[in-house]
Amino acid sequence: MALIDVDSVLAELTIHEKIKLLAGKDTWSTFALERLNIPALTTTDGPHGARGTSFFNGPRGMLLPCATAMGATFDQDLMSAVGKMLGRETREKGCQVLLAPTVCLQRSPLIGRGFEAFGEDPWLSGTLASAYVNGVQSEGVACAIKHYAAHDQSTNSQEDSIWVSERTLRELHLLPFQIAMKQANPWSVMTSYHSINGVHIAEDPWLINQMLRKDWGWDGLVMSDWFGTYSTAEALNAGMDLEMPGPTRWRGQLLLWSIASKKVKQETLDFAVRNFLNLINKVQPSLQPVDPSTAGDSPEKRALCRKVATDSIVLLKNEKSILPLNPTIGGKTYALIGPGALYPAVSGGGSADLVPYYVSQPLDALKELVGAGNVTTNIGCYGHLFTPLLSSSIMVPGTSEEGFYLEYFTQEPDSSGTTNPVATTTTTQAQMYFADNLPEGITEGYWVRVSTTYLAPETRMIEVGLCVLGKGRLYVDGVEKIDLFTSQPKKTIQTPMFDQASMEVTTVIDVKEGQKYEIVVILHNERLTAGVGALNAGGLRIGCCEHFDPATKLSEAVELARSVDYPIVIAGLNADWESEGLDRKSLALAPQVDQLIEAVLSVNPNAIIVTQAGCPIAIPWVESSKTLVHAWYGGQETGAAIMDVLFGKVNPSGRISVTFPKRLEDTPGFLSFGKQDKMLHYGEGVFIGYRYYEKLRNPPLFSFGYGLSYTTFVYSDLNVPKEINLTKQDTFQVSVKVQNTGSRDGAEVVQLYVLDLTSSVQRPVKELKGYRKVHLPAGSSVDVAFTLDKYALSFWSQEQEKWLAEKGTFEICIATSADPNDEVLRQPFDLVAEYLWSGL
Ligand code: BGC
Repeated sequence: MALIDVDSVLAELTIHEKIKLLAGKDTWSTFALERLNIPALTTTDGPHGARGTSFFNGPRGMLLPCATAMGATFDQDLMSAVGKMLGRETREKGCQVLLAPTVCLQRSPLIGRGFEAFGEDPWLSGTLASAYVNGVQSEGVACAIKHYAAHDQSTNSQEDSIWVSERTLRELHLLPFQIAMKQANPWSVMTSYHSINGVHIAEDPWLINQMLRKDWGWDGLVMSDWFGTYSTAEALNAGMDLEMPGPTRWRGQLLLWSIASKKVKQETLDFAVRNFLNLINKVQPSLQPVDPSTAGDSPEKRALCRKVATDSIVLLKNEKSILPLNPTIGGKTYALIGPGALYPAVSGGGSADLVPYYVSQPLDALKELVGAGNVTTNIGCYGHLFTPLLSSSIMVPGTSEEGFYLEYFTQEPDSSGTTNPVATTTTTQAQMYFADNLPEGITEGYWVRVSTTYLAPETRMIEVGLCVLGKGRLYVDGVEKIDLFTSQPKKTIQTPMFDQASMEVTTVIDVKEGQKYEIVVILHNERLTAGVGALNAGGLRIGCCEHFDPATKLSEAVELARSVDYPIVIAGLNADWESEGLDRKSLALAPQVDQLIEAVLSVNPNAIIVTQAGCPIAIPWVESSKTLVHAWYGGQETGAAIMDVLFGKVNPSGRISVTFPKRLEDTPGFLSFGKQDKMLHYGEGVFIGYRYYEKLRNPPLFSFGYGLSYTTFVYSDLNVPKEINLTKQDTFQVSVKVQNTGSRDGAEVVQLYVLDLTSSVQRPVKELKGYRKVHLPAGSSVDVAFTLDKYALSFWSQEQEKWLAEKGTFEICIATSADPNDEVLRQPFDLVAEYLWSGL
């Protein structure tokens, strides 16, 4: 396809056509205009994979570890490889815009979608995002970097009104975007849902036209978050080009009328259309179809996902060098214990989630390493909020195909089975969120019958659970077992599908090995909770797990831990707890999980503890555990990656990307996180993450940047110029020598922090301004050089409304984490002249 001649196309377009181009056509795409050879653009979420255009029953994809895990790699080269692969995956799904990366900083560990962003530090976040964006866009796919800006609560965030100083915005929450603008130029920006200082971002001329376009000189396309446009004239006048998704709520006739009444100028309309046409030109390569023979799952993509997963894992404790385990020592016995042993957490929930090609199971990975005969497993307890998805031992009734059979109706199907469905399909997904991909002929109010044949793999009691988005009933062998049709339990916790589903109701059934059970759910998308007649995207979620007596299971697992050489516990949070649309209330894991870990440690103090969560968690048993490995949400390679690290196939090099506090009360957002009568003051100012703990001299549990290795590193030869003058030089060099003094090859994350010792304003004690991951064979050393510039020395001066690098004394600090105890070398220098600047 030839490039669009933007000027002549603009001259040809009618006003109706221009308006049409500025809003989505459907959930994921824009309109095509064949008359002028304008193609449609199609978007897909990000950030951990490319889901394509369907929440329900879409294609599978490569599922990378969550973004906090990516942040923990501190590896820009790896992020650029990730970006390239995601650009490729986006193209394979027929899309041209990846709705990623997310660069908002976690000011509270409770944010439900905190796992989607790289970490708490703006330099880490902005530089990793830049590498990611450059990778994606090298494939001719646009990134829509999000959520612009300062998105830090997930529960109903459209209503959140954030109050924050310009300095806090500039130095923290806008900075990752600014860095990405400078280093990568993302072709699109997605606005966030909330308002800042009284104005919703999608209609804020200061944040969009002034900041993005004038201050930073950026020329890309601004799109709203999904249903995050709240006005017609205001949004367009502020510079928000594309309303997503479609069909439009705010453009169409309303925009025509705004133009007719001169609330929106023709030139404003043309400016937005120009941005849209320019974006089409930029993504030209991804408008070409991909050769299907080179698409899909591949060993190279798997290897990359595994590398990101292993490189993100953080070794937090390793007393007496219990780790790495040695798989070649014969006669050792292992037990795999904990909810994560059976149900590894691969992703948080919400728009970032997708169905992976496969999931590497920890049990399989362990057996492969040490032999099946040496491994025993016992879950010990459950850690979920919702029964794990019914995803095995199920068949489409009357066939040998794995999965569920779905029949869609426009009216209630009668129980005798004589109502003809409008459409049918099959799926293997036990969570069915019908926000898209509904068949043709389905009306606003519809019914779905879902059936599956459950073939019991053993004789036991099972618990079957149902959540609905709408109302529904579950039957087993024709007998109604769950009624969420006539009434639904009061919501007391967050629920699946963006916190919109009902509470789960479960039923316990005795099943016999080899026998078949017909499970049927009938759903109507009319919501009970939103009042009679409320129709919406419907959905349902069928869960199933073994039903056991918690006390018996716990003692079995504890006995097992006592009897083996190495009990390995995998436990933590999962997508029930951390998801878009909700926020946690506490840092705690499910109480029974802490109880299990404590009990295992009490009988076998050498137990290896692996935690999984996208954001910090409480670790009350930390003192009694000799080992602690944090494995985030590891994506499709979770099992293999955990075992790679535990058995030393990979020397751990992940570093914490979000500080783990000792208590929730210690966190920067503690007093202002939550609904707060709709006025949320970011009162901690420029002190989030380690900046806060260090300023208050209140040490956290594990500081940003912290992580151990199986080898040791020694630093020396820190070279810093004595004097710097930014009015005469754009950059300056700092170097340091690192040596691997241990007996194993390993990778170290060299962290460079800057201290402003003579500042006239309150500044963080130190701030990360450079980092580098270096791979060092045992015994070898390397000189690591950093090129620093004005970004390393400046703060935002409210007085002068510019960035200011203040004359005075600074220090370069090389450290192995942000914890003051982990500083290894320091060297002062003088900035001999004041330097004021703006823009990028
Ligand atoms: C999320 C975005 C996402 C969009 C499309 C919104 O709910 O906030 O991050 O890209 O949906 O799924």
